Amino acid sequence: MVRPTPSRGRKAEALSTAIELVFRETRLSDIEALFEVRARTRQNPLSRADLAQLGITPESTAAAFGSGTIVGFVCTRDDCVVGFCSGEFDSGEILVLAVLPDFEGRGIGKQLLSSVVARLHQAGARRVWLAAAADPTVRAHGFYRALGWRPNGERTSNGDEILELHLPSRPRIT
Ligand SMILES: CC(C)(COP(=O)(O)OP(=O)(O)OC[C@H]1O[C@@H](n2cnc3c(N)ncnc32)[C@H](O)[C@@H]1OP(=O)(O)O)[C@@H](O)C(=O)NCCC(=O)NCCS
Repeated sequence: MVRPTPSRGRKAEALSTAIELVFRETRLSDIEALFEVRARTRQNPLSRADLAQLGITPESTAAAFGSGTIVGFVCTRDDCVVGFCSGEFDSGEILVLAVLPDFEGRGIGKQLLSSVVARLHQAGARRVWLAAAADPTVRAHGFYRALGWRPNGERTSNGDEILELHLPSRPRIT
């Protein structure tokens, strides 16, 4: 067997990592995986029980995707979901963004968020918003700010801050 030289090996590894990641719209068949990923994030994990207390279940999520009230994107590797993001058309809220620990820092969160924001923007949103931990030591705190999101001074009842992003006007495609 011919072994690759170390430098070729590193290049091949980087290339194969890039090729393995697939970004696509969320399907109903992904929903169980979304709940698995949400429970396994390094920070801010939310279990099925935590989400159920907020009224978020696989059934309610399927209904929201099925009726087209929300839009989502997933990142997969080998057909397994490693990150996902979902947003709501009517409110402009980014409902969730989560990336598995081993996949943080590769631009996955940025791409997923950008895809959902683009869809909301295309649908007419001029402002998108989300609730995020106010703790500056949490990765999400710097992540959103680095992407231009800004706090608007409001807080949720559990102390999370509201961050928003203003989008330029663009004509609707009719
Ligand atoms: C927050 C989270 C989604 C970030 O995803 P990620 O894939 O690791 O982020 P990315 O690799 O796409 O980072 C995108 C950019 O943000 C920057 N960034 C990320 N965290 C940052 C921080 N704390 N401070 C400054 N910049 C930061 C990155 O350097 C990168 O910049 P670049 O494009 O110039 O290289 C991920 O850490 C996560 O799932 N956390 C747990 C769940 C969570 O907290 N979700 C948010 C709930 S509101």
